[in-house]
Amino acid sequence: MARVYNFSAGPATLPETVLRQAQAEMLDWNGVGASIVELSHRGAEFMGVAAQAEADLRRLLSVPDDYAVLFMAGGATTQQALLALNFAAPGQTADYVVSGHWGKTAIRQVKPYVDVHVAADGEPGGFRHIPPREAWSLSEGAAYVHITANETIHGVEYRGTPQVDTAPLFADFSSSIASEPVDVSRYGLIYAGAQKNLGPVGISVVIVRRELLQRAGQPRADIFTYASHAARDSMLNTPPTWNWYLLGLTVKWMLDEGGVEEFARRNAAKSALVYGAIDASGGFYRNEVAPAARSRMNIPFFLPDDTLTARFVGESKAAGLLALKGHKSVGGLRASLYNALPLEGAQALVDFMRDFQQRNG
Ligand SMILES: Cc1ncc(COP(=O)(O)O)c(C=O)c1O
Repeated sequence: MARVYNFSAGPATLPETVLRQAQAEMLDWNGVGASIVELSHRGAEFMGVAAQAEADLRRLLSVPDDYAVLFMAGGATTQQALLALNFAAPGQTADYVVSGHWGKTAIRQVKPYVDVHVAADGEPGGFRHIPPREAWSLSEGAAYVHITANETIHGVEYRGTPQVDTAPLFADFSSSIASEPVDVSRYGLIYAGAQKNLGPVGISVVIVRRELLQRAGQPRADIFTYASHAARDSMLNTPPTWNWYLLGLTVKWMLDEGGVEEFARRNAAKSALVYGAIDASGGFYRNEVAPAARSRMNIPFFLPDDTLTARFVGESKAAGLLALKGHKSVGGLRASLYNALPLEGAQALVDFMRDFQQRNG
């Protein structure tokens, strides 16, 4: 069986090493005679797996000690709602900077709980840039300021952390976590669904400055309370053990490969290859994002018409390049170049793009 290069935006490609280890351990984890997925989350075996995953993730992302790392069941959208419940008083203002689809989703999740103030909005510009920091209108007394570090659909990414002094900065890093070094201390909270750079879907990571966990927030059940999860090492109820285990293997793989500095180099090289091919195509391929805001993780691009787009999707799949169809809301094509996609995958895509243009341009 040949594995293809998988450009899916998420759930996304995982390192083959990780999948092989999971396969090898599926029936008998570490000589226990049972799969890790069959063991109690309170037993020494899984507790060890969980603690190692947290320690490795802290090392990978250089998470300071005054930050809690939570492993939460479910996706990033759930975290988006929990932000308001945990950190904003009822009706308090929360500032949102919208740079694409996921920033809008984040707002939708908190509308029932907070007074949303859109501090800047990239939509009038077609989500082709990050609204410049000087143009943000931040509120006095906001509970937090929310940004989307990388917009998975529109392909726009912050390069560097914006300076925010009015309130803690909260960031959705779902599609770019661990893709390059980030100074966690500049953020009050970072969250990410795991299914792009960290492993499988079904688990999210929340990295939060511990002092923020003292905020009263809004009336809510204990299960929606980050402080309760932190107090119980993310085992308030039965956690998604299989996902946590796979996440741990993926994080360990990233450390073994050289950590976030190494992935920053690889991701810069992969994205430079693909943007280079687009820009050298004389307009046959188009990416409309302002160069300074171009995402290294997700590259949406367009062909002159829908017939060519459909042909590209079909032929690229036949050539072993999977999931290049663009998101339905923007159309066209999209290449996601997460950490587990090797440089050879980006090179194979670029070779295919050149060949396709020669035959159809
Ligand atoms: C940047 C970003 N935020 C949030 C989400 C939503 O994540 P989930 O489907 O895990 O709730 C996604 C999903 O692709 C995403 O890319």
